[in-house]
Amino acid sequence: MVISFGNIKDPASRPRAALTLPAGFASLCPALITLDRYQEVSMRTLMLADTQVSVIGQGTWRMGEDRHLRNQEVAALRTGIDLGLTLIDTAEMYGEGGAEEVVGQAIAGRRDQVFLVSKVYPHNASRKGLPLACERSLKRLGSDFIDLYLLHWRGQYPLAETVDALERLREAGKIRRWGVSNFDVADLDELDSPACATNQVLYNLESRGIEFDLLPACQQRRMPLMAYCPIGQGGALLAEPVLLQVAQRHGVTAAQVALAWLLRQDGVLVIPKAVRPAHIRQNAQAGQLQLPDEDLQALDQVFAPPRRKQRLEMV
Ligand SMILES: NC(=O)c1ccc[n+]([C@@H]2O[C@H](COP(=O)([O-])OP(=O)(O)OC[C@H]3O[C@@H](n4cnc5c(N)ncnc54)[C@H](OP(=O)(O)O)[C@@H]3O)[C@@H](O)[C@H]2O)c1
Repeated sequence: MVISFGNIKDPASRPRAALTLPAGFASLCPALITLDRYQEVSMRTLMLADTQVSVIGQGTWRMGEDRHLRNQEVAALRTGIDLGLTLIDTAEMYGEGGAEEVVGQAIAGRRDQVFLVSKVYPHNASRKGLPLACERSLKRLGSDFIDLYLLHWRGQYPLAETVDALERLREAGKIRRWGVSNFDVADLDELDSPACATNQVLYNLESRGIEFDLLPACQQRRMPLMAYCPIGQGGALLAEPVLLQVAQRHGVTAAQVALAWLLRQDGVLVIPKAVRPAHIRQNAQAGQLQLPDEDLQALDQVFAPPRRKQRLEMV
């Protein structure tokens, strides 16, 4: 069996990496992706909604808001897909549909290569509203189905009604699976559904509250947790001296340390949003970084783990 990958920048001028593997081997190992400078790295995957997906995906918040940036955003998502960041997270809220349109453009002709996650506004999560919202999203995405459809956060409609509407969409083939976002432990208890495939929540070094109870609760349910804002929206976190020191020790960037720190845990996926090509490449490589105990301890000194229940943070 031969697996080959083209180089993202200029497929014509660079050789394609080729690997010869025994039959059946590919299903036992993570996908191998060729990054810049011919560097081959393996993209870790995990089982989410019955599908093996890359643990590093691509966020799309703030995309689709400015038409002048559209080409850049589409190119960014395509580059990410080429690098193995094949899970794409979007929402009807982002750019009021604009981000879904960007995603639709980016995945045109390559729908089968991506795992599409979108989210419904709580005010559309009713028996009548949800199928209509889903149809609008599908149209913008240019797809017949969404792989994983999430309730963006809890709203005015009873959970049972939303779940019923989601199940109908699943039966109709419009979505493959459904999940939730911004649900705390009590919400998951109330939901009490093994059909829920994920919980997407704020999680990064600066916001560790979920480690006290929500993360263990998801792990106990064997439900992967999707960490949003994994690099603190590219803000002050990335300038923290301890992060920079750890990064320097490993010859990587602060963002890569922030992502690797999240990815050291089983059942955690990250969905950084990046438009700049250098950022996308860094993010794609972050899964390779293994942080030794001394680094984890140094990070704990500055970003202390929670000692008691904290209210679930949202942005
Ligand atoms: N469910 C929810 O309620 C919820 C809430 C918030 C977010 N989300 C999802 O989670 C995704 C990620 O969160 P987010 O976009 O708010 O924040 P984020 O991914 O933590 O940060 C994005 C920012 O970091 C920059 N960046 C990306 N990679 C970088 C790198 N390697 N080095 C330095 N800077 C880097 C980006 O810049 P460039 O773009 O210029 O490259 C962008 O400004 C969202 O896009 C969205 O899909 C979900």
